[in-house]
Amino acid sequence: MIWTDLDWPALDRLRQKFLSGTATPGPYWETPADLASYDLTYGERIGWKWDHVLRELRLRGWTPVQQRGVKPTSRAIFDWGCGSGVAARRVISFFGAEHFDSLTVWDHSPLACDFAAEAAQNTFPTLHVAQATTSLLAADSPIGLLVVSHVLNELPPAALAQLRALIARADAVLWCEPGTHVVSRQLGALRDELAGAFRIVAPCTHAQSCPMFAEGNERHWCHFFAPPPSEIFANPDWVKFGQRAGIDLRSLPYCFLALDRDAAAMPTPGNLSRVIGLVEHFKPYARLLNCDATGLAELELPKRAAPALFKELDRTKTPLVYRWQRDGDKILGGESLAAS
Ligand SMILES: C[S@@+](CC[C@H](N)C(=O)[O-])C[C@H]1O[C@@H](n2cnc3c(N)ncnc32)[C@H](O)[C@@H]1O
Repeated sequence: MIWTDLDWPALDRLRQKFLSGTATPGPYWETPADLASYDLTYGERIGWKWDHVLRELRLRGWTPVQQRGVKPTSRAIFDWGCGSGVAARRVISFFGAEHFDSLTVWDHSPLACDFAAEAAQNTFPTLHVAQATTSLLAADSPIGLLVVSHVLNELPPAALAQLRALIARADAVLWCEPGTHVVSRQLGALRDELAGAFRIVAPCTHAQSCPMFAEGNERHWCHFFAPPPSEIFANPDWVKFGQRAGIDLRSLPYCFLALDRDAAAMPTPGNLSRVIGLVEHFKPYARLLNCDATGLAELELPKRAAPALFKELDRTKTPLVYRWQRDGDKILGGESLAAS
């Protein structure tokens, strides 16, 4: 699909569906062109979020189990609620197709399964690509690395129960969702529920209960922003899409969760903090919401305490994982995990 072939009415219809943010009684993809138009636009934006999630995983020292020299239980990847399959394609491209033997896709829309399987097979010709069968979904055998992307607000309880059953069969889970208050807190609740069975690789820098659920933190939610590629702002196709879809192309809020059953998957915590949302810059100081093993805290960095750090926080596109020097709620200095 190229921009001139986009099915705009289909994109308008999908937009209405996504805006409603509600559970779907059944599949809403009507033609393969729906999926191709989605893949080039909404799907590509989701791909940019995945790119940033994957950069963070690299920063945290996480790779799929087969790259760690650990005996792999599986070199398989499974994309549940795959849509056009952009999430699995991004994950496989990032780590390298040579690290996977098979990709299984599943969506309650057969059209989506067909599209995702074909797109993945075209992209990775040596990979064994298959659609999940009813018997595979009902089995209890391991499924490898489970990828889940932008499905949570569409799932009625029964579908979420099916997804939970697959999580129970996964070696690791990479899950990315929109960065809204509601969805992020839903994912956070799942994080706390799954923390007993898995190591939490990211975004958390600790294994405590999620502090978003502590009393007084109701207004907060765990979310981040991915940087879109700078060239899209000068691209008339993207500009037209942004206007027609009513989307601010600069803003890509997301939340995510990376879980692994393998103890070796846990990077050394070492007093790391994850900055939530955006850093706000004022003339004399910067303000940010910090999450670490002690909970959530609003911290201030006076510009004069560390001018280079103040500037770095304004400009960096790297995921904001830091080791601070602090005096209470004041940051006196700090180093990005990327630099250390
Ligand atoms: C917003 S799309 C996201 C697609 C893809 N994961 C991505 O990130 O681009 C949500 C997908 O979830 C699928 N879906 C919704 N409910 C489902 C269910 N009960 N079982 C399986 N897939 C479901 C939809 O058909 C759709 O393809």
